[in-house]
Amino acid sequence: MALAETVGRDGRVYAVDSDPAARDVVAAAAAAHSQVLAITQAGEDLLLPEPVDLAFCRFLLLHVLDPAVVLARMASAVRPGGWVVAQEPITSAGRVGGSPLSMPGARHPDVGALLPALVRDAGLEVVDAWAEAPAGAGPGPVADYLASLTGVDPGDDPVVLAPLVTVVGRRAAGRG
Ligand SMILES: C[S@@+](CC[C@H](N)C(=O)[O-])C[C@H]1O[C@@H](n2cnc3c(N)ncnc32)[C@H](O)[C@@H]1O
Repeated sequence: MALAETVGRDGRVYAVDSDPAARDVVAAAAAAHSQVLAITQAGEDLLLPEPVDLAFCRFLLLHVLDPAVVLARMASAVRPGGWVVAQEPITSAGRVGGSPLSMPGARHPDVGALLPALVRDAGLEVVDAWAEAPAGAGPGPVADYLASLTGVDPGDDPVVLAPLVTVVGRRAAGRG
């Protein structure tokens, strides 16, 4: 929805997910935004009807079979000079009560730690990259967020959420 606001009525946002149910959720949420087209497609097969200015993913690459393949498809989806932005966690760098977080259901729970190299190896210039991790102790937004993700209230234990690594990549502008 934020991207829909950014591109405005004359722009276009393709919301891609391999799960048709997720597509339906996005389509319903975007009912008032005709510029959003929700489509069912695996990131490994990403093929959009037109080159785009920006390809963005968050909490995606930790689940896919091969993050490098998906990033290569994203790089191909943007126009020359276009942008690829990926945000992925380093799950095991998060802490609850000093103990590392884990995410057994994810294929690549620490893919964030590799993200700058993955973006570079997709043929993109790494324009910027950073990591951020909200932290707290006791009741508050950090505890609430962790509880919403895991179903477990951390109580009074100190929490450092899994750092989220953001990498801003850019495709070469090309000639002429
Ligand atoms: C954790 S959710 C993403 C949440 C959202 N991007 C966010 O930041 O809040 C992961 C999503 O990736 C989708 N997904 C998993 N594997 C995929 C793949 N290979 N290609 C496209 N989507 C995939 C899942 O269906 C799920 O909707």
